[in-house]
Amino acid sequence: MARHLMAAAILLMAAAINGAQAEDYPAHTVTIIVPFAAGGPADITARIVADIFNRHLGQKFVVENIGGAGGTIGALRAARAAPDGYTLLSGHLGTNALASAFYPDLGYDPQKDFAAVGLSAEYPELLVVRKDFPANNLNEFVAYARANAAKLNVGHAGLGSVSYIGCLLLNSAIGIKPTLVPFTGTAPVLNAMLGGQIDYECDPVLGTLSQVQAGGVKALAVAAKKRSPMLPDVPTSYEQGFPEFDCAPFYGVFAPSGTPQPVIDRLAEALDKGLGEEQVQKRLSDLGAELIEPGRRGPKPLADLITSESARLLPILKAAAEK
Ligand code: MLT
Repeated sequence: MARHLMAAAILLMAAAINGAQAEDYPAHTVTIIVPFAAGGPADITARIVADIFNRHLGQKFVVENIGGAGGTIGALRAARAAPDGYTLLSGHLGTNALASAFYPDLGYDPQKDFAAVGLSAEYPELLVVRKDFPANNLNEFVAYARANAAKLNVGHAGLGSVSYIGCLLLNSAIGIKPTLVPFTGTAPVLNAMLGGQIDYECDPVLGTLSQVQAGGVKALAVAAKKRSPMLPDVPTSYEQGFPEFDCAPFYGVFAPSGTPQPVIDRLAEALDKGLGEEQVQKRLSDLGAELIEPGRRGPKPLADLITSESARLLPILKAAAEK
């Protein structure tokens, strides 16, 4: 009996300490793990989010890039971090919804081991080829790729990354199996493409936007139903007859599950405020993002999206991988 009382008292004390800590949150620097290389879509998005938190929560939020294995190494690190709000993850469709389809021993459960904080942005993917690739639209690309598949190198950010998933959908629609070359993120993929070692990649629009605009690489298709306002001359995959190439990954903020609810609420509130700011919306729009409207902000819409995107995409990916 005495032992039970003692245990109950300890639990109550722990809850009180947690509550007090949540009230002071954030009392010191917070780390946002980006599970991909610096300079790519995940990193750029996370730095916008870190700036929102810095300004609205009055503390430093620093980005730490932990790349590898399609983002799952960094995501695992975040899943295992202390659930105190001082380690967060800037994850995406791959790391926080679909990764378990690619890794039987993932080490974390994308849904159970994370608490959703909120969506940051969504971006349609682009099919981008090296500057001197002998195709200027999707149909020319398909004809060339079918005739030369064995010679082609596709860059991606690791098994299960969104660049991997986008090109899996494209390659299976075309019926080709080129050589897949993994990197720790799509920023290094782009560098390799500029150097001529990679023939093509499928990357959220912000990853290659400035190089597409500068003519360093060519964009042949937007993997969505509508064109990107940032690249109005690039036709969609639908317009060019390949609707299977449809991929617009979400990016969002997550905390290890068990993080106190008041901490999640503070973060979600700050993110909501930031996403409503004009300068943040302009920055995201200039990067080609679909903005997250007020009704889609916060933990629940992100958690719901993970459930619905997993249900929608897992059978499609399975069929694509089996082709
Ligand atoms: C990146 O930031 O490098 C990409 O978003 C990673 C990916 O393709 O999933």
